[in-house]
Amino acid sequence: MSTRKRVAVMISGRGSNLAALMEAASDPAYPAEIVGVVSDNPEAPGLTFAAGRGQPVAVANRRDHPSSDAHDATIDAALRDLAPDFVALAGYMRVLTAGFVAAWQGKLINIHPSLLPAFRGLDSHRQAIEAGVRVHGCSVHFVSPEVDAGPLIAQAAVPVLTGDTEEALAARVLKAEHKLYPIALAMVAEGRARLDGNRVVFDTSGASEKNGGQSVFSPDLTTDMRSIEDLARFTP
Ligand code: GRF
Repeated sequence: MSTRKRVAVMISGRGSNLAALMEAASDPAYPAEIVGVVSDNPEAPGLTFAAGRGQPVAVANRRDHPSSDAHDATIDAALRDLAPDFVALAGYMRVLTAGFVAAWQGKLINIHPSLLPAFRGLDSHRQAIEAGVRVHGCSVHFVSPEVDAGPLIAQAAVPVLTGDTEEALAARVLKAEHKLYPIALAMVAEGRARLDGNRVVFDTSGASEKNGGQSVFSPDLTTDMRSIEDLARFTP
């Protein structure tokens, strides 16, 4: 009998993290299955992608609702139709109401393109370049009412290279996101990372090699570089 956890994904746009989660979940050994996608944006390319692969999709446009509370109530109802064990935000660009977050507490996770608590909010790559950090990355966390401030589940780091543009750095982080999010979701689905109050409790005893077995990974200076030239520039 399958014990895979049911996971709904919320998106607003491109959906590349959704695609990474669907790809991971296409392996029957993966501990979660994607059961549907909810978007606030009817034009989200990720919706077309998901529908094309037979996923149930639902749209709740903020414009069709008089308030954020009403909007989140529609999303809540769409999610409940999918009966998910967990909900993964994957590029969902709207701030969720406190009531919604409370209703899904411990079941709602998000990926953010920075090493939190640094660079919360929008334009995290620009913030990282402006701050001059040499290491940047992405974080998966349980969602709390304060944006990008919930307890951390997993993080992945990438180097910031000399002369990086926002776009180049974003692309490098996105590659890490696509590896990290399936690892983090597996941790949550298997109960190896769970929310307890305002912190995450980890159980690494039964961690399988395949799902990472770790909550963090760091820049691989031999394979994450775009070229030998980059490697030379990164080496002090
Ligand atoms: C990702 O960088 C994610 O971390 C952020 O929004 C972006 C969404 O990209 N929250 P995609 O829609 O998954 O391609």
